[in-house]
Amino acid sequence: MISERMAEKLNYHINRELYSSYFYQAMSAYSTHIGLNGFANWFNVQVQEELNHAQKVYTYIQQQGEKIEFFSVEAPENDFSSPKNLFEETLEHERFVTGLVYDLVKLAKEESDFATDNFLQWFIKEQVEEEATASEILQKMNLIGDDKQSLLMLDQELAKRVFVNTALVE
Ligand code: FEO
Repeated sequence: MISERMAEKLNYHINRELYSSYFYQAMSAYSTHIGLNGFANWFNVQVQEELNHAQKVYTYIQQQGEKIEFFSVEAPENDFSSPKNLFEETLEHERFVTGLVYDLVKLAKEESDFATDNFLQWFIKEQVEEEATASEILQKMNLIGDDKQSLLMLDQELAKRVFVNTALVE
């Protein structure tokens, strides 16, 4: 059993994960538009991951016998200035999402809601990975600077990313 307040916050979190997916879709579209198909692939995988995160929360709310609430998902920002800007935005966004997860954990602890606290631990770990990955790619982009050949090599590397569905197994 979870509190009404927790159910409301978790439902809102589904919406934020869906927004994240939409946001990364915009980045994928931008990448394709400027000819970086590896970047586009990386962001497409990110889209899948965010849908996966939303699915995890959705399933948890249902397991707790609460109702799923649907909210509008606003249009994402869509005026990126460069490939590097994509990863600046990604890192900033992931830090924001980490803050949302921390707020949920704080609420779970306040309410002695051990089940939700435990459920959210997966997200804490995931956010560490999300931020680390975005940071690492951003560092590479800083090293690359204006070197087009290195940018194309990074594009090839990002083309290799594949989606692993963890919604049902963890
Ligand atoms: Fe679902 Fe990228 O945080």
